[in-house]
Amino acid sequence: MKTEKPRVKSAEFVVSAADLKDFPRDGLPQIAVFGRSNVGKSSLLNSLMNRKGLVKTSGTPGKTRLVNFFLVDKRFYFVDIPGFGYAKAGGDVKRQMEAVIKTYVERETSCCGLLYLVDSRLTDSPVDIEALDWLAQSGRHLLVLATKTDKLSKSDTLKSLAAIRKTHALEMDPLPVSSLKKQGMEAIWEQLDLLLLGDPDR
Ligand code: GTP
Ligand code: MG
Repeated sequence: MKTEKPRVKSAEFVVSAADLKDFPRDGLPQIAVFGRSNVGKSSLLNSLMNRKGLVKTSGTPGKTRLVNFFLVDKRFYFVDIPGFGYAKAGGDVKRQMEAVIKTYVERETSCCGLLYLVDSRLTDSPVDIEALDWLAQSGRHLLVLATKTDKLSKSDTLKSLAAIRKTHALEMDPLPVSSLKKQGMEAIWEQLDLLLLGDPDR
């Protein structure tokens, strides 16, 4: 069996922040992870960093309430953004967090790329349509992933990728990933490496 070199040597939780003033500002690049509540953002980060349980996950939507920063190899940050479309954290708290995220996406110069996760079984969610529309307008590099593909057959996964692409008018199919089965990680890392290098063609 092919053994892959571990991608990540060190990964550490740095800060959980509700406000922009508490976000790390040390000039290291940041890659932010977005998507509906429960889509698998935190699980994906654990899989990418190969650290079980470093990022808290849960079957209950709304687990991630604050913006969490993880420093990887002292080289860049993964930014775990609270899930969209979670109604229970209502009112002012939700609106305030939305404003923080909006400002982050529009202004943070260290943010070199966005990952947007779509559940592979939910190809036309209005929450995804609205969020992706907005994120695409930000002009940032945006990589769309289709999560939990272990729940679909191979042929249904292919259909789902095409449907997600069509719904959101994407230039490419989303990358299929399963954090459960650790599938798709290398393809994501290849794209992340390009983002982190600041590839001018992207
Ligand atoms: P919030 O923090 O609420 O926004 O959720 P999240 O997007 O961070 O999702 P999280 O990673 O906490 O996962 C939500 C649920 O989906 C958990 O029960 C996970 O075990 C499950 N899950 C995540 N990734 C996968 C996957 O690849 N396959 C399967 N089958 N389940 C997954
Ligand atoms: Mg989470």
